[in-house]
Amino acid sequence: MLSIVLKAIQTTPSCMEFEQALKLVNEILLAEKNRHLSDPETTILRGTWQGISYDEMAAGSQYSINYLMRDVGPNLWRSLSEILGEKVSKSNCRTVLDRYQSSGEQGSKTAIASKEEKRKISRTITQQTYQHWGEAPDLSLFFGRVAELQTLDRWIRQEKCRLVCLWGMGGMGKTALSRQFAETIKDEFDYLFWRSLGDRPSIPDLCREILQRFEPQEMQGQNRDCDISQILEYLRTHRCLLIFDDADAILQGSDRFGGYAEGYETYGQFFKRVGETSHRSCVLLNSREKLREIVLLENSTEFAHSWELQGLTLEAATKLFVEKKLTGQQSWPDLLGLYQGNPLALNLILVTIQNFFNGDVAQYMKIKATYLPAEITNILHERFAQISELERGILIHLARSDRALSLLELIEQMSKLELDDAIAAIESLQRRSLIAAKYRDRETEFTLKAVVRKYVTKYYATNGKP
Ligand SMILES: Nc1ncnc2c1ncn2[C@@H]1O[C@H](COP(=O)(O)OP(=O)(O)OP(=O)(O)O)[C@@H](O)[C@H]1O
Ligand SMILES: [Mg+2]
Repeated sequence: MLSIVLKAIQTTPSCMEFEQALKLVNEILLAEKNRHLSDPETTILRGTWQGISYDEMAAGSQYSINYLMRDVGPNLWRSLSEILGEKVSKSNCRTVLDRYQSSGEQGSKTAIASKEEKRKISRTITQQTYQHWGEAPDLSLFFGRVAELQTLDRWIRQEKCRLVCLWGMGGMGKTALSRQFAETIKDEFDYLFWRSLGDRPSIPDLCREILQRFEPQEMQGQNRDCDISQILEYLRTHRCLLIFDDADAILQGSDRFGGYAEGYETYGQFFKRVGETSHRSCVLLNSREKLREIVLLENSTEFAHSWELQGLTLEAATKLFVEKKLTGQQSWPDLLGLYQGNPLALNLILVTIQNFFNGDVAQYMKIKATYLPAEITNILHERFAQISELERGILIHLARSDRALSLLELIEQMSKLELDDAIAAIESLQRRSLIAAKYRDRETEFTLKAVVRKYVTKYYATNGKP
């Protein structure tokens, strides 16, 4: 079959006419993909030869611009890129086919790359062109998280989960874990896009940015409106991994968990549609707060999951302490417990221990008080500015209590606290990763995480005001 194609190339003059290009592409597709060009693909190839835009192609055919530009076009360019071993797009298609034809005329046996070569070249193109890491941190010291990495792998690689949310307190390691995980799985995807939502892009801007990264040639110089449907179409026709870091930035403050900031409500629709619609891709969200859509989708579909990230295990933290040359090993578990394994807190505290205690954790633990580094205080200041009065009241009450309290105890002890409000506020605090639940005698009791307790005691517990 390949020899027939090479013959076709050799008999075709350079600077091809459209009919010759059509014949050539059909023969290549037949040889390599066992198919011919479809009618809409032929429309695109003809339009490309004529140098007209997708708008004009749509106007002169029965197909919509969306269909041609978002669905048929990307697939056609992708197939040709794979077969020819270099990135083919609307803007370079003529040049590539001309070059391809010339190499055939010169009798080059490499005009069509071998399957293995194609795979290699296609992978290189994919890595260079289709992976956008944005502000993802460099891979740095990373310890533990074996169970988390395995679970993410199962959900995303094996079960083809569509929406995953990693949530937990600031500094717990969500960004680091996602970065580490993305590195292990990136080659499974046609496209990878990492974006922090910290600067709160609007949905149309975000959609445009994604498409500009995935189809730079197609989007060049265009400032068209882009919407969720176009992204979903992409998620359907390609296997994409979209990682949105700092997703809590688009959530609203001063309310129970999960509400979106004003003007950002469409993110909720976006995440809902990502979770509900059938497609081949995955959106991974990192957030300090569990997103409302995740809570709902987790119950209704097996394609949405979330994981509340807890602290490092003793094994992982031990590696960190060894790396940082700390001593006083008998006190390492206590230090870990004090900061609940929060890697940001541990990284900050170990600098203090090096500076003030010559790296000896045992000496530091003799202080018998929780030191709250400024960065952790700032994270909690932000969190506290976002919670409701009632949630704050419950945290203060729990901080004053010397033991964990059940729902009924809280209602008994806090005047004017009604059952409905109490349940909603406690669920909200859990999803904001500010309280921990313990199960005792078939009842759930709630308590503050150690760092949060220290913060509340320091800033609120005496008079209820910061
Ligand atoms: N498994 C790990 N091993 C070693 N260091 C880690 C690990 N996870 C996180 N860190 C370090 O801890 C710090 C905080 O991690 P990271 O930024 O990922 O937290 P985060 O949960 O994303 O916080 P935020 O909510 O503020 O975005 C970083 O300096 C990171 O390098
Ligand atoms: Mg982060």
